[in-house]
Amino acid sequence: MTESNFWPQIAAQAKSEQRPFFTMAPMEAVSNTVFRQVIASAAAPDTFFSEFVYAKSITNSDTKFPVHGRLYVDPAEKIKPVVQLWGDVPEDITSGIAALRDMGFQAVDLNMGCPDQTVIKNHGGSDLIRNPDSAIAVIDAAKKSGLAVSVKTRLGYSKLDEFKEWIPTLLNQHVDLLTVHLRTKMEMSKVPAHMEVIDDLIKMRDEISPDTLLQINGDIPDYTAGVKLAQEHPGLDGIMIGRGVFANPFAFEREPQTHSLDELLGLLKMQLNLFDDFSTHYDMPRFPSLKRFFKIYARPELGATDLRNKMMDAKTTDEVRQILSDYQN
Ligand SMILES: Cc1cc2nc3c(=O)[nH]c(=O)nc-3n(C[C@H](O)[C@H](O)[C@H](O)COP(=O)(O)O)c2cc1C
Repeated sequence: MTESNFWPQIAAQAKSEQRPFFTMAPMEAVSNTVFRQVIASAAAPDTFFSEFVYAKSITNSDTKFPVHGRLYVDPAEKIKPVVQLWGDVPEDITSGIAALRDMGFQAVDLNMGCPDQTVIKNHGGSDLIRNPDSAIAVIDAAKKSGLAVSVKTRLGYSKLDEFKEWIPTLLNQHVDLLTVHLRTKMEMSKVPAHMEVIDDLIKMRDEISPDTLLQINGDIPDYTAGVKLAQEHPGLDGIMIGRGVFANPFAFEREPQTHSLDELLGLLKMQLNLFDDFSTHYDMPRFPSLKRFFKIYARPELGATDLRNKMMDAKTTDEVRQILSDYQN
């Protein structure tokens, strides 16, 4: 374990409310300052993870995977995110985390599950599942940094059974938090998450590293479903939600309510404004990256298919604002 109180505090607060803690998943081009602020204003989780950052790029501006705005935290963000890092070089992890500490971040997460071929070719993400010695060296380097250290991984690379060796390997490193996406790398996101192994994971954690917090991830749509899972599997500490926020930006709401189209479009307008503000600081992201978000707000079941189609043809945030204004008048 590290000396950091970051995760124990989050877990203790949730426990005092008799619930697991909730986090929003690291999602590339999604979990940035803009969308984190939108979700925080709709219904906030206990904490956020950033999209993944190539560890070396934090201290070296000349890499293939530059930081751009990934580490930007708006002063309005009450919750500073956990920064997710990828890479397999311990020295990069050490120097990257030292810089993050100077920037005021409190916690880092090590990506050991990304199935992307480019990441794997560069020995990061799920490639570490196949190279446990590298994984251990990376964790070791991170643990010396003084920040809270967590790992997010999958059950295995090719076969489900691999979790019986891989998860104990990680638990033996005594990280503060272990997040398990309940699929193998090969399964991508194409099969249902393996909820059937949750109790095995809890047992392993209890036996090997009882102080490591355990969080699960995969196919959990919202707060209510997360609470139910934690009740069914005592010992589970945290619930991470990713794509659930695409179906419902109010996914972390504790008492689910029905939200009107106007409310959802209010969130979209907030996102457009934050996006414009963010784009003045950074080259990225560009307008087309916003389009994937339109369907979150302009929902077919609320009769907004035409509105969405119109927005998909827009080329600027101002055009989207005009379309929204025409629609709402
Ligand atoms: C658009 C997108 C980007 C993602 N980027 C990352 C990432 O940067 N780091 C990571 O560990 N996982 C990433 N993931 C995986 C999610 O964190 C999560 O493990 C996965 O979506 C399963 O959880 P869910 O069913 O709640 O979405 C990404 C997923 C999506 C859909």
